[in-house]
Amino acid sequence: MTNHEQRILIVDDEVTIRRLLRQKLSRQGYHCEEACSSDEALEKLKTYTADLIMLDMKMPGMSGMDLLPELKHIYPNTAIIMATAVAEANLAIQCMRLGADDYITKPFNLDEVTLNVEKTLEKRMLEHKIKEYQEHLQQKVEEQTVEIRKLFLGSIEALVYALEAKDQYTAGHSRRVHEIAMAIGRELNLSEEDLENLRWGSLLHDVGKIAVDKYVQNKPGKLTPAEYEHIMIHAHVGAGIVKPVVNEKVVEIVEHHHDHYDGSGLHQVISREDIPLGARILAVADAWDAMTSTRPYRPALPVEEARQEIKRCIRTQFDPVVANAFLKTDTSYSTFERVKAAV
Ligand SMILES: [Fe+2]
Repeated sequence: MTNHEQRILIVDDEVTIRRLLRQKLSRQGYHCEEACSSDEALEKLKTYTADLIMLDMKMPGMSGMDLLPELKHIYPNTAIIMATAVAEANLAIQCMRLGADDYITKPFNLDEVTLNVEKTLEKRMLEHKIKEYQEHLQQKVEEQTVEIRKLFLGSIEALVYALEAKDQYTAGHSRRVHEIAMAIGRELNLSEEDLENLRWGSLLHDVGKIAVDKYVQNKPGKLTPAEYEHIMIHAHVGAGIVKPVVNEKVVEIVEHHHDHYDGSGLHQVISREDIPLGARILAVADAWDAMTSTRPYRPALPVEEARQEIKRCIRTQFDPVVANAFLKTDTSYSTFERVKAAV
């Protein structure tokens, strides 16, 4: 191991000992600095980055033993070797319990001192490398977890688009609902975290349609009550599909996206503010896209008529705060023809 860049601070009140150690260690290629007291050591360390401190246990003023915990606290990565008289070996062991890496006894055998220094610095370097490796590993695991989650969500998103693409009337629906929902979320000043949940909730809200009969879904006429009931299972089925890969808030958005604000929706168990905010936003966004899109059984509603319909359903189907926020956004004046054309 090369020691040209290793830096050692020698702390001892006896100048002869400091010089002796400095001479020996400098000859071995270490860069050395000296301090004659604990106070001077603390002062020097403000500008001198030491890899190792040789610390005399007994010094006038603050002793090395008192300084040790403070050094460990301020410089946890710096190795410390205690220097002590043979008769104080027990105290030296106590110092090791307090975090010292090793100890040497006076009078010094300089060759042993060199060996101790070398061994301690090697141990410190290894510990440092292990720590770095662990941190790197931890970071890699976190990155890969995010990547895997993204892949899962991306696959489900692709499934939604594939489902919608089969039907010219619903193609691009989720993407448009996503844009409308995000515009409402921004109008309501939602936090970044809530917007992220809304993003996934809106993109995935109709994934449960995979369980809906194609004939019922594309039926050109009015649905019978039984058919309506069948189609509406998609909210619950969808929540079950996304549950393993998204957080609870996104699951709730998908589960409740057809709930009516006043509680009058099919098999609805909660109402008003008990319905998750993301689901209340999605209810408006979903209805807007449905109304302004052409369906097998009716043409698209003109924008102004659709706006009136949203207003008419405030407090019954829609949360007033959410619906009014939507009516302030640019999206409430557009039918997303650009997006529809792109799909
Ligand atoms: Fe839906």
